[in-house]
Amino acid sequence: MTQPIADVQREALAAIAAASTTANLTELDTLYLGRKAGRLTGLMRNLGTLPPDEKPAFGAALNAAKSVIEAAIASRNAELAAAERDAREQRERIDLTLPGRTPEPGRLHPLTQTFEQVRSVMLALGFSFTESNHCEEYLFNFDWLNYPPEHPALDEQMSFVLDDDHLMRTHTTPTQGRVLATGQNPPLRYAQIGRCFRRDAVDDTHSHTFHHVDGFAVDKDLSLADLKGVMAEIMRGIFGPEAIVRFRPDYFPFVEPGVEIAVKWGDRWLEVGGAGMIHPNILRRAGIDPTEYSGWAFGFGLDRMPMVLHGVDRLPLFLENDLRFLRQF
Ligand code: DAH
Repeated sequence: MTQPIADVQREALAAIAAASTTANLTELDTLYLGRKAGRLTGLMRNLGTLPPDEKPAFGAALNAAKSVIEAAIASRNAELAAAERDAREQRERIDLTLPGRTPEPGRLHPLTQTFEQVRSVMLALGFSFTESNHCEEYLFNFDWLNYPPEHPALDEQMSFVLDDDHLMRTHTTPTQGRVLATGQNPPLRYAQIGRCFRRDAVDDTHSHTFHHVDGFAVDKDLSLADLKGVMAEIMRGIFGPEAIVRFRPDYFPFVEPGVEIAVKWGDRWLEVGGAGMIHPNILRRAGIDPTEYSGWAFGFGLDRMPMVLHGVDRLPLFLENDLRFLRQF
């Protein structure tokens, strides 16, 4: 009468031996030992139909088969779980000896690279760098720089006006008045690199937002020749040792004489900015005697430099921050 039990046990042991995954085993556990529909549990129900004298032996046989199947599942499970763990570890193994993947560390914006280049050349020439606000007083943007009150540059069309006394600075030249107004005594040699703003329509070569560097010096016996030497040194630092600097007469209210600065690049002359000897009115306003001291000053745009150096033909690209563009530098 215990034959069906032996059959189920044999079948179960064969299936357990053949199981290839722990998931299979779980299914087999349910199939043979499951509380509701397990095969062995099914036989257990026969117990009630047996004559009383056969019950103990049948029950004992059932329990024995249950133990055997449970043990077989447990030991096969241990084997399969170990194999599965090994396979997973193999799959997820990290080879610590492989070279690391280089992260993309980011880089400086091409304009920042230009600023740093100009700054390092000028630091070597003894300039100290100052900073001031993008929002500037008319006083420093114009008055200190000897602009007559009716000068057309004060026209609201040219600048972003903030209120009666303030505007977005139109150049970095206010550095001059900002430093001179502090009452420091010469020798002075200061510079500033920064963002400037004018009411200009955006096209390939213009923008309402751009960048200038200004530098100036006040000392005894400074001449236009010193200025030209300094300009040549700076331009060589930016454009390479062959750069040639050209001065041509030009007018700015804050210098006398004033010049336009151009640099020879290939067979072209690039106009980069302006310069000149600081106007005596400015020195006087600062309490510096123009018969004893003289000064020179220069200012030039920085946006066209990376354009020329890298062959970029659209100025606004530098402000649009399109990563496809920026990653090229
Ligand atoms: N600020 C002038 C401009 O925006 C450039 C300039 C000319 C600056 C002559 C100077 C200078 O310091 O001396 O065009």
